[in-house]
Amino acid sequence: MYDDFSTFKEEVKGRIDIADVIGEYVELKKRGSATIGLCPFHNEKTPSFNVNRAGQFYYCFGCGKGGDVISFLMDITGMSFLEAIEQLTERAGLEMPRKESFSPGAKEDTDRIIAANLTAAEYFHLSLSSEEGKAGMDYLLGRGLTPETIRSFRLGFAPEDSAGLIAFARKKTVQPEALEAAGLLVPSKYGGPSYNRFGGRVIFPIIDQAARIIGFGGRILAGEGAKYVNSPESPVYHKSRVLFGLYQAKAAIKKLRTAVVVEGYMDVISLHQAGITHAIASSGTSFTTEQGRIIARLARSALLLFDGDSAGLSAAVRGVDNLLATDLSIGVVVLPEGHDPDSYVREYGAEALQKYLEHPLDIWEFKLQALKRDAADVKDKIKLAGEIADSISLIPDELKRDIYINDLSFKIGVDRDSMRKAVDGRIKKRAGRKESGEGEQSSQLMGTVRQRELLAAVIHYPDLSRRLMEELGSKPFGHPAMKAVADIIFHRLVEGLDVSPSALMNVVENREAQQLIASAAMIKVDRETAEKYIADHLSPYDEPEIRSKIEELRRRLESEKDTKKREALKVQLIRYQSLYQKLKNN
Ligand code: UTP
Ligand code: MN
Repeated sequence: MYDDFSTFKEEVKGRIDIADVIGEYVELKKRGSATIGLCPFHNEKTPSFNVNRAGQFYYCFGCGKGGDVISFLMDITGMSFLEAIEQLTERAGLEMPRKESFSPGAKEDTDRIIAANLTAAEYFHLSLSSEEGKAGMDYLLGRGLTPETIRSFRLGFAPEDSAGLIAFARKKTVQPEALEAAGLLVPSKYGGPSYNRFGGRVIFPIIDQAARIIGFGGRILAGEGAKYVNSPESPVYHKSRVLFGLYQAKAAIKKLRTAVVVEGYMDVISLHQAGITHAIASSGTSFTTEQGRIIARLARSALLLFDGDSAGLSAAVRGVDNLLATDLSIGVVVLPEGHDPDSYVREYGAEALQKYLEHPLDIWEFKLQALKRDAADVKDKIKLAGEIADSISLIPDELKRDIYINDLSFKIGVDRDSMRKAVDGRIKKRAGRKESGEGEQSSQLMGTVRQRELLAAVIHYPDLSRRLMEELGSKPFGHPAMKAVADIIFHRLVEGLDVSPSALMNVVENREAQQLIASAAMIKVDRETAEKYIADHLSPYDEPEIRSKIEELRRRLESEKDTKKREALKVQLIRYQSLYQKLKNN
């Protein structure tokens, strides 16, 4: 039915509106003919994220990210290429063509792990109702969970013996190797039976925004051993991105524009059961920037709800710094000593907890209070000022930074200018590290300005680029991805194929190349300017370069026997000779 996979992709993309899909993750506004929003891939205050409906692509002027609806879904959800296509196909009301004709090998691992997790989750959940799983069911019910909650979070129990899981999986054509890839089974080094990672534990499936089960947490029922074990890092499970409960909480978070962030799996589940359905858990000691970004895409604010044990609090104070680098406004609520959200809500009810949530401390107030507590003498005060400077320096917005410098230096009792110097020093130091390549990469611009302008001219006015193509080919483009894009355009021009941005985007899968196409398509250029950009390149060679090219062609002509090839070489030689004359005449 479809000649090849790219025809199928085109069909799918043609049936959906990229703005609809992106609009589920980003608040988009129409401005004139453009559709814009705040970029989900970097922090910004004014929108530079553009969705081009006609061209079926997106591009961010701030960070340079760009691509089609497939790459958007892959980047925002972490889905594999195949999963993204599948989701869009369904959305478009189409059917996937036979898999083997285009299944890209590199994605197989992801798909295999996801399939293994799905099967295992089903098995663990069913086990709760079996004889072996009775202890697990009793445990969950004993902690006040209703059967309804157990179902909606797909909780389960993993029997000690892995034979049942292996047999169940086999029936669903999931092989033991896939269970191993997912970290459910750990092969024995000595040839014995493999180790059952979650055996004897109650199971908390971790589900991502795209409804995929990416991993598990398993809680011990009783006795010795770690209280929780979690899935190992894999192509689908990245601890730094996990927010437990996000799948169940997403709609409520989007609606309320805020998230309640707690520490544990049980806390999330208990809160949901009590009707606080925008609760998620960080499941770790400190927050990561990635978690912050995920929350910031859905909400304006986050309410951190901490357990009331003072030992954990000082760690918590330092653990929130990565959230400051987002635009989230952050409030903190600390529960009474001895309580976590789960125990509190079960003892006093949702209304009592809501009262707490209504009066959060501002994150800075919280930090100050907690840090001040052990800042009695001058030495401690210096340390305190240093820690506050650390935190302020993470705020991306300058104005906001300034406000906090004023406010907090006053509260600590240090000189405002010294605080400002300390903050600026830290920012400079980080910028230095970034430049030397240590920090995270933010700007993704490729090639020189001149090369990008040329690519824009070629993309907007392919008819103008014939001479460029014949004389120079992709040579003016320095960056390999740019060269590749130019080669594709030229090739399609010769073949008489569509060279619109959306057509190009559809045939390149390389992310860099997609970004280039999107960025070039976004550069506004009129025909005249495009002519100039191209003309600028048409005599880019300097004399020695042309002379050596002529030499080379002569040499090749001497040794070439094939008549056809000789003709082609002659044509080129004449072209270069006339170019050389032109250069000399100028
Ligand atoms: P807690 O120790 O507060 O456990 O750990 P909890 O969630 O309140 O569990 P219950 O109520 O005792 O059953 C908070 C979170 O830290 C992670 C888990 O995500 C846990 O939910 N954790 C804790 C681990 O990953 N491993 C551990 O050994 C302990
Ligand atoms: Mn608990």
